[in-house]
Amino acid sequence: MNRYYGLKAGVVPPQEKEHFKLVRDIAARGIVLLENHGILPLAKGSRIALYGYGARNTVYCGLGAASINCREFVSIEEGLERAGLAVTSGDYLDRYEAIMRQEEDAYYTNIREAGGGDLLKGVLKMYAEPFVPSAQPLITEDDVRRADTETAVFVISRNSGEGADRRYARGDYLLLDAEKENLRILSENFKHLIVLLNVGGVIDTSYIRSLPHLSALVLTGQSGGTTGLAAADVLTGRVTPEGKLTATWAEKYEDYPNAESYGAMNGNLDDEWYTEGIYTGYRYFDSFGITPAYPFGYGMSYTDFRIQTEAVTIKEEQLVTAVTVTNTGSGFSGREVVQLYVSAPGGELEKPYQELKGYAKTKLLQPGEAQKLEITVSLRNLASYSEKDSAWILEPGIYTVRVGNSSRNTRTAAGIKLERKIITEQCKRLFSPGCEMEEFSAKGTSFPRMEEKETLPENIISFERTMETLYHIYDTEGVGAAKGDGSAEDCLAGNCGDSKAALHLKDVVEGHISLDAFVESLSVKEMVSLCVGNTGDAENGGNEGGAIVCAGSGDAPAVNGEIPLSIVPGACDTTRELIESRGIPNLNMADGGSGLRLVPEYEMDENGKVLTSGLLSIHGVDRIIGKDYIQDRKNHRVFDQYTTGLPVAVQLAQTWDRQLCRKCGEIEGKEMRTFGVRLWLAPSMNIHRNPLCGRNFEYYSEDPVVTGECAAAVINGLQSLRGTGATIKHLACNNQEDNRGANNVHVSERALREIYLKGYEIAVKQARPKAMMTSLNLINGIHAANNHDLLTRAARIEWGFDGMVMTDWGTTSQSENHLHKYAASTCAGCIHAGNDLIMPGSMEDIRNLTSSVENGEVNIEELRRCAKRILHTIMSLCIQEAF
Ligand code: BGC
Repeated sequence: MNRYYGLKAGVVPPQEKEHFKLVRDIAARGIVLLENHGILPLAKGSRIALYGYGARNTVYCGLGAASINCREFVSIEEGLERAGLAVTSGDYLDRYEAIMRQEEDAYYTNIREAGGGDLLKGVLKMYAEPFVPSAQPLITEDDVRRADTETAVFVISRNSGEGADRRYARGDYLLLDAEKENLRILSENFKHLIVLLNVGGVIDTSYIRSLPHLSALVLTGQSGGTTGLAAADVLTGRVTPEGKLTATWAEKYEDYPNAESYGAMNGNLDDEWYTEGIYTGYRYFDSFGITPAYPFGYGMSYTDFRIQTEAVTIKEEQLVTAVTVTNTGSGFSGREVVQLYVSAPGGELEKPYQELKGYAKTKLLQPGEAQKLEITVSLRNLASYSEKDSAWILEPGIYTVRVGNSSRNTRTAAGIKLERKIITEQCKRLFSPGCEMEEFSAKGTSFPRMEEKETLPENIISFERTMETLYHIYDTEGVGAAKGDGSAEDCLAGNCGDSKAALHLKDVVEGHISLDAFVESLSVKEMVSLCVGNTGDAENGGNEGGAIVCAGSGDAPAVNGEIPLSIVPGACDTTRELIESRGIPNLNMADGGSGLRLVPEYEMDENGKVLTSGLLSIHGVDRIIGKDYIQDRKNHRVFDQYTTGLPVAVQLAQTWDRQLCRKCGEIEGKEMRTFGVRLWLAPSMNIHRNPLCGRNFEYYSEDPVVTGECAAAVINGLQSLRGTGATIKHLACNNQEDNRGANNVHVSERALREIYLKGYEIAVKQARPKAMMTSLNLINGIHAANNHDLLTRAARIEWGFDGMVMTDWGTTSQSENHLHKYAASTCAGCIHAGNDLIMPGSMEDIRNLTSSVENGEVNIEELRRCAKRILHTIMSLCIQEAF
């Protein structure tokens, strides 16, 4: 019995319409107003001359895993027109479009030819060399005259995705010469120039800011099908802008701490040294006195707010800050974000100037209206990690609490005094860099902002007495282990599986046997099959392209029996081999960061066979194929799997709104249920370490607290629905895409724990995600996928993660890495580390894992532990459907 979930082609279900509306609102609220010199909002009916690549060719989402397939995409041009603005530059846009089409067609032809008939090869080429538009016709005097208005809008777009980093080059981080020239022409010929940034990450804005007639600069971002509508909502004042940056936008690229050494910048893609240590993002800019173009946490509104701190108190182990926010403007309602930063005292450890510890957002405040907010932060969260003590410590001295609406606009609210050092959490030494790490030091630097840190606040509170209870020691291993009284020898000889072959997962579900007993009854072959994703082996239901992307599930033979084989074109899944013999359903999982990425339309023949390639779930693949992929022959049926495009993660984070994040999670959960997907391969939680990372748009922030809070809210929303789970990824330090599979990150334990792991820890503790995906890179010489310290000691033992861990796609594929200094991760290493599921799964993985068990490298107990966690996840997500 096979089960499909596609909807009748061409019928738009009410849920899709409802989600589109919700996302439009969320997207608008993640837009950041960077500059406004009185021009915005635009009055209805205003005439605007619209230019730039993204006006018509709006970028809706990033590339690769996080690309999406919505039914409706509204460009910025269309969005503005629908909002009642008159676009008067249609002639120019028509001319530009013809050039754009030619450029794009040439690009896809080139990709197709490079693939030489192999679609997957073409996809990989597309990943490595994403399309960068370069032709841009100059705006002529005639264009200006015909536009016949005083207001010009220029849209700058950028795109990137997995597999390749962005470039410090014209057309990417830097403006194209043609973009600069057009901006100059507009600035000279129009009274008002509004620049929109249809981008998923930082670009160089220095030229834009230098334009004499720049009237407004808006980070409209990328938000799926609603991108143009959301932009128009803010430009016309339907929505008062409320977004705040979650990354620092530097004056110039060279201002970032790792500007020269990052990724391809220094030519070394094998080893990446995190010499900036804990000084990422604003922690660096603030501690070293570098003024950014737009600071972390910054964003303007159409109205003004007053933030008044009422009281800072300590209740039990919580720092509670009460503030009143008043909308002091007269024309617009709006929302404000209150950010709480703490400057910890230096001592044994160097401390950054300040760190974000909490935040809260108001409701929609009418002019004159006020609201009281409370920001509560556990005192534990003020601790720093001491490598010497292998512990989180609070050092004696004054902790200055600052409250404001950006990292550069805060007021000291209180000081908290601690007399002596306190260990808040005792850990064990993990992640040794294997050598002395040379890291930046802000010692001896004296900038105005550092001096401010030294000035004692007036209101000093002592929290000495409350802290004794915070001491914790973790020393238990083996979380989630199977009981292990079965005999390894028996199992290797194939006896346990054979002798108890009658056991069925249903027996566990119905309480006749324990999960441990069931796991013990599995043979090595069965456990190996379970611990390796659906291999795509033709005999087991082909999985074209599965080795790289979530592309499988389409072409599968019918399975007989009680438990259905669940088929979702565009998703990947766990093994299908045990459905009949053991009643273990296959678990479908699908990307991605900006929505559920599935094949939008698929065709099935009269025998129930899906004819459409799963690779078509990836943005651009239809263009590589270059022809209509749905043949729609007689007796064939066509199904839809259109899903809603969410704002890219960074734009969602820019709302600083946990409720909106939760809402996005709920939207995902509902669509997963509609389309039979059990695990969402998101949220992605890596840190914006450098603006050139190709996947920053998929990640929330440069700050771990914002990252963790956003992810937790999304997961809580998604997992509030039955049978749906989230997968936090990519653990950890996947901050670079060039050579992502064999890049060795060298990082200190302190930076790792405080910056790169903190977000995951927050998400695990607040939301208990069902799954976690490891990154492709190495950390201090050990592949993340093979890292026991990371997966077992940190994630499971210290944070209490109780779900399933899976690898990123192709981590164990040796053939991928042969050109690089470091070899791929190993299957045996995954199982040792507690990485339960090797994805997407290949026959090579099956062979490798089997021989590792046979030669004793992997012991049965380890394998059982992994198998048990996979089964536990399958039971918790698929049970309702399967039994
Ligand atoms: C990406 C993951 C994604 C997976 C499945 C990998 O290439 O790195 O983020 O979930 O593919 O599509």
